[in-house]
Amino acid sequence: MTRPLRVKLVEVGPRDGLQNEQQIVPTAIKIELIERLADAGLVAIEATSFVSPRWVPQMADSAEVLRALLASPRRRPAVSYPVLTPNLKGFDAAVEAGAQEVAIFAAASETFSQKNINCSIGESLKRYAAVVDSASALEIKIRGYVSCVVACPYEGAVDPARTAWVARQLYDMGCHEISLGDTIGAGTPTSVQRMIEVCAALVPIERLAGHYHDTYGMAVANVYASLELGMAVFDSSIAGLGGCPYAPGASGNVATEDVVFLLHGLGIETGVDRDKLLAAGEFISLYLGRDYRRRAARNKALALECHSQPGTVQ
Ligand code: HMG
Ligand code: MG
Repeated sequence: MTRPLRVKLVEVGPRDGLQNEQQIVPTAIKIELIERLADAGLVAIEATSFVSPRWVPQMADSAEVLRALLASPRRRPAVSYPVLTPNLKGFDAAVEAGAQEVAIFAAASETFSQKNINCSIGESLKRYAAVVDSASALEIKIRGYVSCVVACPYEGAVDPARTAWVARQLYDMGCHEISLGDTIGAGTPTSVQRMIEVCAALVPIERLAGHYHDTYGMAVANVYASLELGMAVFDSSIAGLGGCPYAPGASGNVATEDVVFLLHGLGIETGVDRDKLLAAGEFISLYLGRDYRRRAARNKALALECHSQPGTVQ
């Protein structure tokens, strides 16, 4: 399988990133971040989630965020703002706020499913089937997630066959894309490739996306390993923000800056303007009081110079 020539990035920082922040980020900052990410050329930005505010207080302003983005004079028609919906209640609220794409999130681990959405995998799939039915009737696109595709924070290693089975259920329901979440970042290129191969036997690889957390610093390597199998959609988070409140110890997703650096270095198109991306990363890092001199953002001038000379980045 050859590497793709172009990759779609799904920016999950405003959702996966901010959901893990203890301090409540003002709605206006969230909106400004998302608009900066859209200005940088990202065309799929997971904006928020319509989950219970008791479970994830940071996402309590979801309707306000989505409504403001959809009504914004800066809105770009090519940019989609998928939102997470754990059940029909969340789906109805998302639709009322104008959602045109939603994401449902299942897991390959029973314990994680219970901890994250308070029900078994089987129950969650029943709930999601109802969400998908409603979404289809309204012609709303549905993305699916599988969490704990390689390992679970409670159960340890996860059988790839289990992951593939859940991915297939979501595919059969009508999800246009299934994002494979290495929730705790325990995957390595070998285990991630093995998991993708098993999933790709049940779901076409064009419909699979990689969602890799970077807890052990393996996420960029895992993106590379997935590219080698022909995967062409990756989730990433600006400034590497994130984690899951129900996956103790898990750190953020792979940083969008790092993935873009990798992809452009490989000559793979993303449509992302790195200069504007780094400015967006600096904006949110400054707001959160985080050091932004990490990895691909460390030396902006050098990184930009390297990418103006294709082939110079190894
Ligand atoms: P529950 O407590 O079992 O819900 O939570 P319930 O149906 O029993 O209802 C209890 C109360 O919650 C009721 O209110 C409902 O109305 C309300 P009350 O009558 O007590 O006042 N409620 C809601 N409120 C707002 N929005 C809703 C909603 N649903 C019920 N949608 C529930 C079940 C699924 C709601 C809860 O467990 C939940 O919200 N979980 C979300 C947790 C979460 O957001 N986790 C992070 C996202 S997943 C992730 O990060 C992984 C991913 O990145 C991939 C990866 O990395 O692996 C995607
Ligand atoms: Mg995640």
